[in-house]
Amino acid sequence: MKKIILGALCFCSLSIFAQPKSTTVRDEKMDKFIDNLMSKMTIEEKIGQLNLPSVGDFTTGQAKNSNIAEKIKKGQVGGLFNIKGVAKIKDVQRIAVEESRLGIPLIFGMDVIHGYETAFPIPLAMAATWNTATIEQAARTAAVEASSDGISWTFSPMVDITRDPRWGRFSEGSGEDPFLGGAIAKAMVKGYQGDNTYSRNDQIMACVKHFALYGAAEAGRDYNTTDMSRIRMYNEYLYPYKAAVEAGVGSVMASFNEIDGVPATANKWLLTDLLRKQWGFDGFVVSDYTGISEMIAHGIGDLQQVSARALDAGLDMDMVSEGFNGTLAKSLKEGKITEEQINTACRRILEAKYKLGLFKDPYKFGNEKIAKEKIFSPEHRAFARKVAAESFVLLKNDNNTLPLAKKGTIAVVGPLADARENMNGTWSVAADINKPSTLVEGLKQVAGKNINVIFAKGSNLAKDKSFEDRATLFGKTLHRDNRSEEELLNEAINAAAKADIIVAALGESAEMSGECSSRTDLNIPDVQHQLLEAMLKTGKPVVLVLFTGRPVTITWEDKHVPAILNVWFGGTEAAPAIADVLFGNVNPSGKLPATFPKNVGQIPLFYNHKNTGRPLAEGHWFEKFRSNYLDVDNDPLYPFGYGLSYTTFQYGDIQLSSSSMNNNSEITASVKVTNTGKYDGSEVVQLYIRDMVGSVTRPVKELKGFEKIFLKAGESKDVTFKITPELLKFYNADLEYVNEPGDFQLMIGSNSRDVKTIGFELK
Ligand code: BGC
Repeated sequence: MKKIILGALCFCSLSIFAQPKSTTVRDEKMDKFIDNLMSKMTIEEKIGQLNLPSVGDFTTGQAKNSNIAEKIKKGQVGGLFNIKGVAKIKDVQRIAVEESRLGIPLIFGMDVIHGYETAFPIPLAMAATWNTATIEQAARTAAVEASSDGISWTFSPMVDITRDPRWGRFSEGSGEDPFLGGAIAKAMVKGYQGDNTYSRNDQIMACVKHFALYGAAEAGRDYNTTDMSRIRMYNEYLYPYKAAVEAGVGSVMASFNEIDGVPATANKWLLTDLLRKQWGFDGFVVSDYTGISEMIAHGIGDLQQVSARALDAGLDMDMVSEGFNGTLAKSLKEGKITEEQINTACRRILEAKYKLGLFKDPYKFGNEKIAKEKIFSPEHRAFARKVAAESFVLLKNDNNTLPLAKKGTIAVVGPLADARENMNGTWSVAADINKPSTLVEGLKQVAGKNINVIFAKGSNLAKDKSFEDRATLFGKTLHRDNRSEEELLNEAINAAAKADIIVAALGESAEMSGECSSRTDLNIPDVQHQLLEAMLKTGKPVVLVLFTGRPVTITWEDKHVPAILNVWFGGTEAAPAIADVLFGNVNPSGKLPATFPKNVGQIPLFYNHKNTGRPLAEGHWFEKFRSNYLDVDNDPLYPFGYGLSYTTFQYGDIQLSSSSMNNNSEITASVKVTNTGKYDGSEVVQLYIRDMVGSVTRPVKELKGFEKIFLKAGESKDVTFKITPELLKFYNADLEYVNEPGDFQLMIGSNSRDVKTIGFELK
């Protein structure tokens, strides 16, 4: 049926983006407390609350004599970040509470991105678990550790949607999909903050970042310009930030990039109209690191001008620039900003401190006894090991190469096999890089006595030493081997000769992804590739254990290597977790949260694309005057949602409770999933929907639901999804949140490509 688009028939709700949550009940006691406190504050002290300097780290006792101590005493600091350890944090808090005029406590932030000292897999890997309960529990665990060590605020979750694997920060988010990203954002906020009242001393404030669109940096080059239509923003990029706001996130970090020609840090539409007026956000907004002073280079004014613009736009806290601290008083005198604006920002910071309970007890966070008991505890590490194993994605497994037999000799080769400092992955500032086991150690631990594990490095990370230097920053060395390429390779060939099977640990170093780690070539680097070729030439079976923080182009590897396990960066317990999966003690169940392209030229490649007026017929490669390439087909190497298991799952046909629904009803879609293989295992059952005819063009499919189920070998389960009118909504050309009557296609399957399809109608 053709869809009729008439105002009267279009079920339209502006609620999501247009109704401020002005219904938020004010806490009168808090308001009174803050009114009273602010009545005593000078303008300088109010501006001081907006200042978030980074101090690096102190040794205990040193803070008292530092320049920062002087600032704290004068009331020129609202919070600090990058200090680790209860004693140090308490030292500094004592200065604020006992030696500043009004004794206002500081808030202590840190990038607790994927765990604290117990590091979980990098966020992209966490997303690959498709398990929101696990993700929430990991955030909870991180909060327990961080809070016991004095941290009250984490700069997480990072929810930037990205479709460009050239961008290094792909590793820090949940991938390409807004629905999955939104579900993860909610889970993480809940995990960190608990019930949002911070009633316990292990519930810390979350900070959703980077608001907004940071993942759409042009050419995948970090910090680069973004530019997109509002309709794309609303439908494809904003949802995870909004989900975090709905989950009650306490703070938001503005992104480095510009939006519509104005850097996010000073973008009033973004920080006030959208975030506060439309979404009803009532926490505070912090800039990113030097985000304010960077607007000088963006070209919108000097430090005084950009600081005033940021405040006027709705930014409350200045991370590192000292723009607020240095210039707002002057701008106020010159009439460029108002006292009201300073008051508003100051109140928001004080409210956060009040809600966290810092006025009642400035030392609420940080407890040596709990820290000793909880941080890096056996219990947390056991959980991290389980999570890491759940995040790995089996990309290929010809002839059941995996799991490995528990006997014989395994040759482990590659620069990442003995790379302790790289195991945690990027952005793991609190974790000790020397604590994780190496992959070789992990394999030996788990292997048992019937297996002989031998190791040869085989190659460095890359031929070019200067590249390896750039890609192993922050002490995450790969101990570059100065022997010749040939010597290294021969050693690996000799090891392989003694082995029954080869495990090649190749891919990226931890800092080849992450901040300021953009790449234009996403292949496995030169010498590593040569090593892999040499291993394949031995004729022995080869398992590629792929370390990566982003989708990489492994088209050649997919063609030639019998088994590929993508292990991302799995955190402190990655090594035993990899061994658990390789030996079959754990059946892999991860699914890709992002498309893996065949080559860099296909980028951006994402599953929820539009159809174009000249789509390529399914299964075709090239047709003249169709939307395609001369030199590669349009398909990804591995589609979004893809991931194999040691067992197999069969999907029955989709059963709909009715083939039509209206805006006052809902239907259900069920499918029987059967474990048809020999192993027990988990499967992520995915629901996609396509709106066949719209007032604006709609994607060829969009993820609208998922459920992770566990099935014993031979077992079947019915999985049921509810299709509600809400699920069918999108932003139309007027940015109204609507659904439109007409035909829809509903798809259920094990990834975005392999689905069963059925139609239904919205009347
Ligand atoms: C990053 C943020 C981070 C901040 C504080 C910035 O460079 O973009 O994600 O939270 O530093 O460390």
